[in-house]
Amino acid sequence: MASLSDSVKLPCGLVFPNRLVKAAMAEMLAGFQNIPTPSLINVYDQWAKGDWGAVLTGNVQVDVNHLGNPFDVALSGEYTDAETNKDLFEKYRKYAEVSQAHGTPTIAQLCHPGRQSPRPAGRRGVFASTIAPSPLPLDMGDGFVQRWLGWFAFPPPREMTQADIDTVTRQFVDAARLMADAGFSGIELHGAHGYLIDQFLNPKSNVRTDAYGGSAANRAKFVLDILQQTRAVVPSHFCIGIKFNSADHTSSSFEDTMTQIGLLADAGIDFIEISGGSYEDPKMFTAGQQQPQPEKSARTAAREAFFLEFAAAVRTRYPSLILMLTGGFRSRAGAHYALSQNACDLVGIGRPAAIDPHFSKLLLDDSIEESEAQLKLNKIPLPFWAKMIPLAAIGAGAESTYYTGQIQRIAKGLKTIVPL
Ligand SMILES: Cc1cc2nc3c(=O)[nH]c(=O)nc-3n(C[C@H](O)[C@H](O)[C@H](O)COP(=O)(O)O)c2cc1C
Repeated sequence: MASLSDSVKLPCGLVFPNRLVKAAMAEMLAGFQNIPTPSLINVYDQWAKGDWGAVLTGNVQVDVNHLGNPFDVALSGEYTDAETNKDLFEKYRKYAEVSQAHGTPTIAQLCHPGRQSPRPAGRRGVFASTIAPSPLPLDMGDGFVQRWLGWFAFPPPREMTQADIDTVTRQFVDAARLMADAGFSGIELHGAHGYLIDQFLNPKSNVRTDAYGGSAANRAKFVLDILQQTRAVVPSHFCIGIKFNSADHTSSSFEDTMTQIGLLADAGIDFIEISGGSYEDPKMFTAGQQQPQPEKSARTAAREAFFLEFAAAVRTRYPSLILMLTGGFRSRAGAHYALSQNACDLVGIGRPAAIDPHFSKLLLDDSIEESEAQLKLNKIPLPFWAKMIPLAAIGAGAESTYYTGQIQRIAKGLKTIVPL
């Protein structure tokens, strides 16, 4: 069985020195200018010292007009080259340099939120619509309150034209070029959690009848074009991965999802990170909260990963694909179990890394007892008023707000606080 401390070599040749990867977490530290700030770089200085196999950055939005939150790192305007865009290049160069100062490959996650861009997030203006493959608003629930809150928070999207698709494709490719020039080891396309790439992949949000809609392959065209055009302009050793949503075995979309993964594999993707959920159904944060608690039995303790079954199914179909599995890992036992099941090559760790930026050291150090090599994190409680609002996204918002707060404490050199 593979060990957590084994290195992993990706098809592009990049080597991760071990199997523990700090997952992408939006830091909300880019200020109103949406640039890598000294505070942001302070946090990456800490993660860089954590002995991770790789560090994934929080999402970098490819268009400052469409953000996930007002303080996302984002590109404003076109990136031509390092000479022409000297200031911009210099900021990202510093970001890449600090993140990799101790030899940990750092991968910049690139994202476009599409219809999941809240009204105040992005320079497009609060009354402007978002963009999406089809003009379908987010479905936050059937009740009046859910529908009204959904509309209030997320403007209804307009259907992207071919020109919009070409522009966004170019924005992804330009952002990838900037990351390569700046010295990052690679990029990860955010194709999960209901963001734009996922909106194209998913038949619930993509009802187009042109070359980008219909069959599973057509729905993957948007991301495959981005992948192919990026490959053509970055060095061959530059890694390109994707974060991808799982599908239930029993769901009608299972075979479509497998087809799309096969297409990404054929197109030369370096790794696929398996996650799940969206703003409509935020399983990425809460999937484990329906599961039995870890102390119930050693077996349930070991099965802490949220999307293990799906990852194992992908492994069976595509044995040579490098798989990363993210969501729910809190212990060495849990990480070992996923490797022992051959469900993944890489273990993605989010929230524990926001509490302890050196969490991987705890799992890798065999002199530390198994029972100590873990971090228990309770669900973040909701304030009483929030409990009155019947919206699943509220709980996810509480989780992400809490851990963003911890990341910001790391930036200030403060001790983080384990949720009680
Ligand atoms: C504060 C916070 C911000 C996040 N931001 C991102 C992000 O920018 N991109 C992304 O792919 N996932 C993001 N996630 C989701 C994590 O990468 C991960 O999928 C999720 O937290 C489940 O893993 P965990 O149980 O180890 O935390 C975020 C999670 C948190 C807590």
